[in-house]
This record gives sequence, structure tokens and C-alpha cells, in this order.
Amino acid sequence: MAVDRASKGAHGGELPDLAATIWSRRDIFSLAGWAGFAGVIGASLLAFTRFMFPRVLFEPPAVFLADRPDNFVPGVVDERWKKSQRVWIVRKEDGNLYALLAICTHLGCTPNWFAAENKFKCPCHGSGFKRDGTNFEGPAPRPLDRIKITLTPEGILQVDKSAIFRMAPGNPEAQYPQSILKV
Ligand code: FES
Repeated sequence: MAVDRASKGAHGGELPDLAATIWSRRDIFSLAGWAGFAGVIGASLLAFTRFMFPRVLFEPPAVFLADRPDNFVPGVVDERWKKSQRVWIVRKEDGNLYALLAICTHLGCTPNWFAAENKFKCPCHGSGFKRDGTNFEGPAPRPLDRIKITLTPEGILQVDKSAIFRMAPGNPEAQYPQSILKV
């Protein structure tokens, strides 16, 4: 008598054909092969996408326009460009101006200006700088760098961060007369 592949259940119902519902070994290998293929294609696509969008650090332009000299208060450190440009612009009591790079000369943290104490203080390792950028405490080996500032024909202060004056201890204005804008 021929054996029907579908068996009878305890209550006489048809039991499902196990061979038809459980995957065969060949099916599993086939699926694994397709999964591997899809993985390779996905990884290639990801690599291609990353190639099309390289990790580029977008930095603000090196040259920016600040403000008119009259809008800087003598004796005050102007912090308007600290966050966006990492630059302080200082107007001296005599009216002349200079720009300092807000990058600690120890390991590159951003110092803060404390007007009441008349000093810049680095939060990382405690270096202190006077208002003219001179280092006087902590591990910073030299003063804050100065940046070139000029006046445009329209009378606006232009700061060029690509022209950096690397200061040594001592009179900054004697070292780099170009670091001061006389107005
Ligand atoms: S980075 Fe400023 S004191 Fe170290």
C-alpha cells in the first residue's frame, strides 16, 4: 500500500508534511550565500558613500571683518568673536588695537577672560595670561599668539588668522609692530 506523506493526527486530522515545512540543508546554505552576497554589496555601498562624503573639517574662513575701531571700548577685551573665531580683540587705553588667538600655548585649550582679575585663565592646566597675552603662571611656555589686524578702505577692522605672530616673552609691540593697529 502506498504511504501518503501526510499522516493522520490523533483526531484524524491531516498533519502537515514536515519535509515541506522545515527547511532543507540546501535551503539554509542558499540563504546564507545570499545573505553573504547582500552583506558584501551593502559594505561596498557604504564604502562608496563614505568615499563620496569625505570627513572634512569645515573651519571658518581665516579672514573676517570685525567692527569699526570706534565700537571697541578702550581698556576692554572684546569677546564678540571668541566663540565663532577663537579671537579676542583688545583696544588699549591709547586707542590702538590688537587681536589675540584664544588658544592656550600649552596644549591648545581655550582660555577664558576674567575682567575683574584682568587676566586670561586656561581651564585645562591653569595657565594665566595678562591682557597683552603675556604668560605669567602655569605651564604655558610663551604668550598668546597675536593675529594681524588691518583696516579696510571702508574703515572696518579686518582680522587675518592666517598671519599669526608667535610671541616670545617680552614687549610684544617691540617684537611685532605689525601686531598692533594704530588708529
Ligand atoms: S592647555 Fe592651557 S594650561 Fe594646559
